Amino acid sequence: MRMIENIITPTPINGELDQSAPPIIDRFGRSFNYLRLALNEQCNLRCIYCMPEEGIDFRSKDKLLTTEEIFRLIEIASQMGVSKIRFTGGEPLLRKDISELVRFSHHCKGIESVHLTTNGLLLSKQIDKLETSGLSGINISLDTLTPKKFSIITRRDGLDLVLNSLHKAMESTIQSIKLNVVAMRGFNDDELMDFVYLTEKNNITVRFIELMPFDSHQIWKTGKFYGADHIVSDIKNQVDELNPIDGSRTEHHIFRVNDYTGKVAVIPAYSRSLCGACNRIRITADGKLLNCLYSQDETNLRDAMRTGKTDMMIKEMIYGTMKKKFKDGWEAQNQGNDNRESMTQIGG
Ligand code: GTP
Ligand code: 5AD
Ligand code: SF4
Repeated sequence: MRMIENIITPTPINGELDQSAPPIIDRFGRSFNYLRLALNEQCNLRCIYCMPEEGIDFRSKDKLLTTEEIFRLIEIASQMGVSKIRFTGGEPLLRKDISELVRFSHHCKGIESVHLTTNGLLLSKQIDKLETSGLSGINISLDTLTPKKFSIITRRDGLDLVLNSLHKAMESTIQSIKLNVVAMRGFNDDELMDFVYLTEKNNITVRFIELMPFDSHQIWKTGKFYGADHIVSDIKNQVDELNPIDGSRTEHHIFRVNDYTGKVAVIPAYSRSLCGACNRIRITADGKLLNCLYSQDETNLRDAMRTGKTDMMIKEMIYGTMKKKFKDGWEAQNQGNDNRESMTQIGG
């Protein structure tokens, strides 16, 4: 087997350095072309399954990656075969440099698409700038279509703002618009079909997501967990035709209902039947590389950059971490005790 160090030695091409490196492949043959970068831990909502009302022990700003550090990581990842970037948080639109980061990624050689996952509160104000910066896709989190339930789940008001953002997003030239709905028994299971009907005339993907165990209150244990298989069969029981189609790697179950325009998907985020097709690398807001959403083993890329490590050394850290990836999120979780208080400390 060729050594990575030899392969990633820059080769001069036409007087310029070609920094391209081999793809990132793990022990199970999975390759990783999708980088999820969390930009902060702060959020302007307090969703009950995500963060306590009083917030969490947010890391101070100096611990978070700077704009230049993020640029550098995107460039390094692109040289290793990453072609898709997603900015997550916390709430990524709270970061002032968001459009700059989108523009940089869009122009970075090898990056084919740049996406954002947002709660939508600030989106309508920023969408024009994001669109001109080259954003390819937006996933908006919205768990209910009723104002009262919105304020219960998010502990804030703002449903109108989110719906306005959704409309603006659908009117924009941004290609992919998705709604993320965390599905909860006894809370929004009665709204399943209201969300499905949104796909009748709109070219969006509505995705129902299983509750995950990353909040300090562990609300998934309180009877609200609604499993992917049950969601799928509950939808099947209420529509005439559910035609399987193609989707992204998290969209393990994906369908078009009858002759609707949009798509409906179910993400088994907790049951983890999607792990065999995993293609993602995660970097937390404070620069820790994770090889799985459920992993507690962190590789500190921020300190590596701040202590003068070269790009080649950072690439080796990334190859090494991804090589250690476990078969699935269950094995990853079994390696230690998670003491995180919120998914924003991972980036989702
Ligand atoms: P697409 O690129 O549009 O498919 O989006 P995505 O599903 O990768 O990203 P998004 O940020 O919208 O995440 C939707 C939900 O899927 C969130 O609840 C994530 O935590 C969950 N999710 C994303 N990636 C993974 C993963 O690797 N494993 C698991 N178990 N859940 C994931
Ligand atoms: N379980 C499931 N989904 C969650 N999200 C945040 N916390 C949880 C959780 N505990 C969702 C958000 C957003 C996406 C990034 O992750 O609602 O859509
Ligand atoms: Fe990938 Fe881990 Fe998520 Fe499974 S749980 S899809 S292995 S990140």
